[in-house]
Amino acid sequence: MTPPCPTFSAALQEAGKGKSFLQSFAVATGRGGKFFYKFFTSRYIKFPNLAPQTQNLCYNGIGYGAGRAKFSAAAASGRFCAGEKGRRIGILTSGGGGPGLNAVIRGFCKYCFNKMKDVEILGFLEGYAGLIDRQYRQLSPADVEGILDLGGTILGTSRQPYKLMTVKEGEGPTRLQQMVENYKKLRLDCLVTLGGAGTHKTASLLSVEGCNVIGLPKTIDNDIYGTDVTFGFHTAVGIAADALKRIRTTADSHRRVFFVEVMGNKVGWLTLYAGMAAGADAILLPEIPFDEDNLIKFIAEKQASGARSVVIAVAEGAMSRREADMGKKERRDYLVQFGSATVAERLAGTISQKSGLSCRSTVLGHIQRGGDPCAYDKVISTDIGAFGAHLADIGRFGVTVCIKGNRLGFNVLTDIAGRTKRVPADGQQVLLAKDMGVYFGE
Ligand code: F6P
Repeated sequence: MTPPCPTFSAALQEAGKGKSFLQSFAVATGRGGKFFYKFFTSRYIKFPNLAPQTQNLCYNGIGYGAGRAKFSAAAASGRFCAGEKGRRIGILTSGGGGPGLNAVIRGFCKYCFNKMKDVEILGFLEGYAGLIDRQYRQLSPADVEGILDLGGTILGTSRQPYKLMTVKEGEGPTRLQQMVENYKKLRLDCLVTLGGAGTHKTASLLSVEGCNVIGLPKTIDNDIYGTDVTFGFHTAVGIAADALKRIRTTADSHRRVFFVEVMGNKVGWLTLYAGMAAGADAILLPEIPFDEDNLIKFIAEKQASGARSVVIAVAEGAMSRREADMGKKERRDYLVQFGSATVAERLAGTISQKSGLSCRSTVLGHIQRGGDPCAYDKVISTDIGAFGAHLADIGRFGVTVCIKGNRLGFNVLTDIAGRTKRVPADGQQVLLAKDMGVYFGE
């Protein structure tokens, strides 16, 4: 029979019979002592944007060392924590699908199967829906073979709006309560959630409710706060840039103006990168409202200077100054007159009407989220998955993996949840682009 989970001090006593406190600490914590030391010697990245309290936590690694100690102590007594037969970890993919999800699942599982004894990995199906309804399947090493390149997610995904998580439906429990209950019923030691901003908000809620959660940052929007990059982003940049480049040749042939709509409802990272990678003439972002009349002037000047075509990368969430000044409801009412037309379609329509120019629009849409990840995404997805497993291994929960200045690290979920990383309108990239003559619609 498995002995009950010991307290850390009991495990220390057990591991260090007849030894000094420091010796027994080293025996009980194993590699944890080393990590602890490394944190203290400032190996880890700094998090200038986070609250000073959290910076300290990340910087001095007290939480990290303590987490490691707890798990190593449990390991010293022959068991992990809650599960009876070693560790049981849940994993799910949530929100919009994107390239790299399978590569992350693979990196995560490979680390677990390789480094942890008696690990069970439960893959929840269709995102948080699988945790709510207790729909899952156990993942084996064979399940993650050959999926590094595979687009989509082998677990399926769904959007489960964060706002509905705590809403009561009749007498029953909320979705959040159902998830916490299932987490406990399944005796999970940890839950790993791959997703974007909404997924992280729910992950943070679960963490506050006492579940051991680790987030992994996925989104083609690259808008998760506290990380330089999210997996899936660079693949989408490549797809959108390639489309823009192709549009250029047909636009040149016909002397046309093209509005190419790139995904990104709230932030413009994808449009900015794709636009720059394809040499777009203008880039319209949600962060920088555009002026339609000035845009017409810009196009006319461009043509007068001899350009055969004008290619404009437009973010899905880009809006005019007029719209930006409206409240949410007023804007919704104003947009009714355009039916289901997207921003690129509206711009092509109104600008041809106002100026007589030959304008066309192309909406790239979900093609940007499909297919296999690019080489860079395969690398960072694998790293992020493996690092997430490493955090699970050492018991560092309530965090999400990040990449800052080319180093893997983590942020505390409650610090980053609900915050958005936007394109700074006066940031280096935008200013340099402007200096080169790229127009941002102002
Ligand atoms: O968050 C990723 C994203 O692709 C956004 O860029 C886009 O606004 C949204 O998802 C589209 O969501 P859906 O797949 O639900 O239409």
